[in-house]
Amino acid sequence: MSIPSQFQEQLTLPVIASPMFLVSGPDLVVESCKAGVIGTFPALNQRSSEDFEAWLVDIKSRLAAFEESTGQKAAPFGVNLIVHGSNPRLEADLALCVKHEVPLIITSLGAVPEVVKSVHSYGGQVFHDVANLRHAKKAASTGVDGLIAVCGGAGGHAGVLSPFAFVNEIRQFFSGTVILAGCISTGRDVAAAQMHGADMAYMGTRFINTQESQAVAEYKAMIVDSDAADITYTPEISGIPANFLTPSLVAAGLDPKTGKAPGEQNASPKEINLGEELTAPKEGAKAWKTIWSAGQGVGSIDDVPPVAKLVADLHSEYVDATVDFANLSRGYALKPQREVS
Ligand SMILES: Cc1cc2nc3c(=O)[nH]c(=O)nc-3n(C[C@H](O)[C@H](O)[C@H](O)COP(=O)(O)O)c2cc1C
Repeated sequence: MSIPSQFQEQLTLPVIASPMFLVSGPDLVVESCKAGVIGTFPALNQRSSEDFEAWLVDIKSRLAAFEESTGQKAAPFGVNLIVHGSNPRLEADLALCVKHEVPLIITSLGAVPEVVKSVHSYGGQVFHDVANLRHAKKAASTGVDGLIAVCGGAGGHAGVLSPFAFVNEIRQFFSGTVILAGCISTGRDVAAAQMHGADMAYMGTRFINTQESQAVAEYKAMIVDSDAADITYTPEISGIPANFLTPSLVAAGLDPKTGKAPGEQNASPKEINLGEELTAPKEGAKAWKTIWSAGQGVGSIDDVPPVAKLVADLHSEYVDATVDFANLSRGYALKPQREVS
């Protein structure tokens, strides 16, 4: 098990506030890093590479000011790059990450050795998110430093695998950093991810419901009001299977079970849909923008705290959980008569 040493020293908790389309911006990233967890955002949350660079400059200068005024190290920050033919900005955005020496690059939908090489050239780390074993093995062969195991019930483009199955199998061939994703909402969940063999926890939905996220108030309220039964897993909205808040599908006039428009047989978009208008009965329905994604962990979320408070709460829950675990094992000492001779 390992967390890159340059990251370990700067962390309050082994947590990455994961990148979320339209949700993560500089405020969420900066407050996460100040609180001691890795803050990240997708490069595509800005409309152009020029605007993306403006965010990089803003984040770096705010973190530098924090470090100077407090004498404390902020946690590193990260950028998510979509490595897929549908992303025409990949080359330009990667060049900006190299220029600004972004400490962590999270690649999605494709792992390529050239990206890994570019990031390693300045000492950056590459974590790649995967939802199945085939992609995990392929990514490992490109030299990524970490694999993010996106399991069943996660927000966004989720997998279907159980974390028990997926993490154990990844560990059999990968000795880098393993990050577990899917429904991690509490400090106890973070501890459980480590007990389970992961090095770090990847938390998305929990960070939508913070003061600093860019999600609108109605989205946050829907998360507070929802539980796991209110999540629909469908490829219809985004082109590949993802989890969405069922009430937001209903508000767009879509079928709550399938995400399809009524009467549609096969409406799956052919391309990955990053915020395009959808063919839905309600005009203006847009993937991610009005049809909101969240993971099955919503049932554990009933507040919208500032990031600093959330991380403080996660920390105390984490410490309590690890102490509880240590005590728990004392009750299960092997009885002498049951020892295997
Ligand atoms: C609203 C939303 C948008 C997301 N957008 C992205 C994205 O742009 N890039 C990405 O790599 N992952 C994206 N994800 C997935 C998250 O980074 C992460 O894998 C997931 O949220 C973890 O599961 P959890 O939400 O159950 O914690 C998104 C997730 C959500 C909920």
